[in-house]
Amino acid sequence: MKIYSLVYESKMKGSLSSIEFQQLMHSSYINNYISDITGVLILHKNKFVQIIEGEYSKIKSLFSKIEVDDRHYAVKLLAEGFIEKRSFDDWFMAYYNPSIRNKTFTTENELKKYLLDFLSKDNVTNKVTKAFYYKIMEIFGIQDQNPI
Ligand SMILES: Cc1cc2nc3c(=O)[nH]c(=O)nc-3n(C[C@H](O)[C@H](O)[C@H](O)COP(=O)(O)O)c2cc1C
Repeated sequence: MKIYSLVYESKMKGSLSSIEFQQLMHSSYINNYISDITGVLILHKNKFVQIIEGEYSKIKSLFSKIEVDDRHYAVKLLAEGFIEKRSFDDWFMAYYNPSIRNKTFTTENELKKYLLDFLSKDNVTNKVTKAFYYKIMEIFGIQDQNPI
C-alpha cells in the first residue's frame, strides 16, 4: 500500500495551556495509533511543525480537521505526496514542548540532536520528509552544514 505524507506549519493560539497541549497530544497519540498514522509534532516558540504519514484517506481526513482546529492559526501546508516508505515508522506522535517533560526527551537539545541524527541518515528519502527537515532546521536556527 502506498503511503501518503504531509507536512505543515502553524502558530499556536496564545491561550493554549500546557495541560491543554498535553491533552491534545494524548488524544492525538491514541487516534494516530488506531489509524496507523505516524509522525512528529514540534512546538517551538509558539510555532507548530507537524509531519504525518499514513493511508491517503486517513491523512486527508485528519488534515481537514487539523486545518480548522481553533487551537492554532495560520496553517500553511509545506509539502504533501505519496511516499515509498514511512520515515517515522514507530513514532505515533513524538513531540517536544519546552514546558512539558516527556519520557523520551527531557531537553530540547536532546530532541534536536535525536531528530537531526535521525534525519541525516537514511530516513530523508522523500520530498515531504525533506521539507520537514528544512523547516525544523529553520525554526531551531541551525545552519545546514551538509544539505540533504
Ligand atoms: C497542532 C495540532 C496538531 C494536531 N495533530 C493531531 C494528530 O496528529 N492526530 C489527531 O488525531 N488529532 C490531531 N489534532 C487534533 C485535531 O485537530 C482534532 O481535534 C482531532 O482529530 C479530533 O477530531 P474528532 O473531533 O473527529 O475526534 C491536532 C490539533 C492541533 C491544533
